[in-house]
Amino acid sequence: MKIDKNVENDGVIFMSIKENNEEASDTAHEGDVTILAIESSCDETAAAVVRNGREVLSNIISSQIALHTVYGGVVPEIASRKHVEKINGCIRAALSEAGLTLDDMDAIAVTYGPGLVGALLVGVSAAKAISFAKNKPLIGVHHIEGHISANFIENKDLEPPFVCLVVSGGHSHLVVVKDYGEYEIIGQTRDDAAGEAFDKVARAIGLGYPGGPKIDKAAREGNPDAFSFPQAKIDGAEYDFSFSGLKSAVLNLINQAKMQGQELNQADVAASFQKAVVEVLATHAINACKEYGYDKLAIAGGVASNTSLREFLEKECAANGISFYRPSPVLCTDNAAMIGAAAYYEYKKGVRFDLDMNAVPNLPLGDRERRFHGR
Ligand code: KG4
Ligand code: ZN
Repeated sequence: MKIDKNVENDGVIFMSIKENNEEASDTAHEGDVTILAIESSCDETAAAVVRNGREVLSNIISSQIALHTVYGGVVPEIASRKHVEKINGCIRAALSEAGLTLDDMDAIAVTYGPGLVGALLVGVSAAKAISFAKNKPLIGVHHIEGHISANFIENKDLEPPFVCLVVSGGHSHLVVVKDYGEYEIIGQTRDDAAGEAFDKVARAIGLGYPGGPKIDKAAREGNPDAFSFPQAKIDGAEYDFSFSGLKSAVLNLINQAKMQGQELNQADVAASFQKAVVEVLATHAINACKEYGYDKLAIAGGVASNTSLREFLEKECAANGISFYRPSPVLCTDNAAMIGAAAYYEYKKGVRFDLDMNAVPNLPLGDRERRFHGR
């Protein structure tokens, strides 16, 4: 992946992401489906142009992370306001980098849930306005289905069925991708999502926000065996996760050290915590592949960019004869190319939303209502 980065006057990072292979053909072919995709569910405003689900013609991300860092987490109101400021610029940049106009688009796709309602509404309103003004089909995409579909972009040969470990700031799911757009959830978290655990522990040990990347970096200097943290197993639901016990164990360790006036090694705590999370995630995923009889495992979501998780799974998959798929880190965290990838398969199914499309903050994964009678 080639990433062009610019920090704007307001501290927002503007990125243009390109795939390394320059095979993307300049000319469209008969039957090609070109989609403008929009994502604004959390703190990244993003727009991309994607052809036939797998060819990314442009991928623009405007990241607000720096604005939220001072508050120690995403402030929904600030996120919504920045999305409003940035969305048109992102869409314009995505079209211009693709060398196309709105008239060249076959459909407009947008994340309509799950996420922060005010943030989602910005993308949804922009997509509806374009769909109405240009009379283009409108496709609502599930954010997590987008994360899963990020795997199709760099792995042109990957096709369902396969197992996918989805680990983001709000979700930890183990799913079987039975077909395009068809998901069977076989495990999920009972409490915190994996990313949430990274963020909370990072705050507790003084690393700050965003926690995942900071723990990832600090852990490289630490000893993963310095502390032994619990790895929760849930009776009768062997693919479910629980991270709240692990989080409490880290907090207890910190409090005890404080009371005894001891100094804890931050890198050692980070590395030991990360090891506990990574081992649980990876073992569940490998066991699911074996039990359900799949020889392909993909990972998705922000936590899927974690170096240790990627290394661990690479080894374990090789040892168990499983092909391992993982998007480049920049396609694991929020972006619109993944929304364009998911939207293509929805478009092929005939999914069409109407202008009554609304943001759905708690949109469920798997069994969700699909619209076939819209624009
Ligand atoms: O998928 P994502 O960008 O947004 C959501 O849909 O939630 O995921 C964000 C989450 C945050 O909790 C962040 O701390 C975590 O992904 N994350 C990581 C890493 N990079 C991002 N966690 C562990 N290691 C990383 N390198
Ligand atoms: Zn996400």
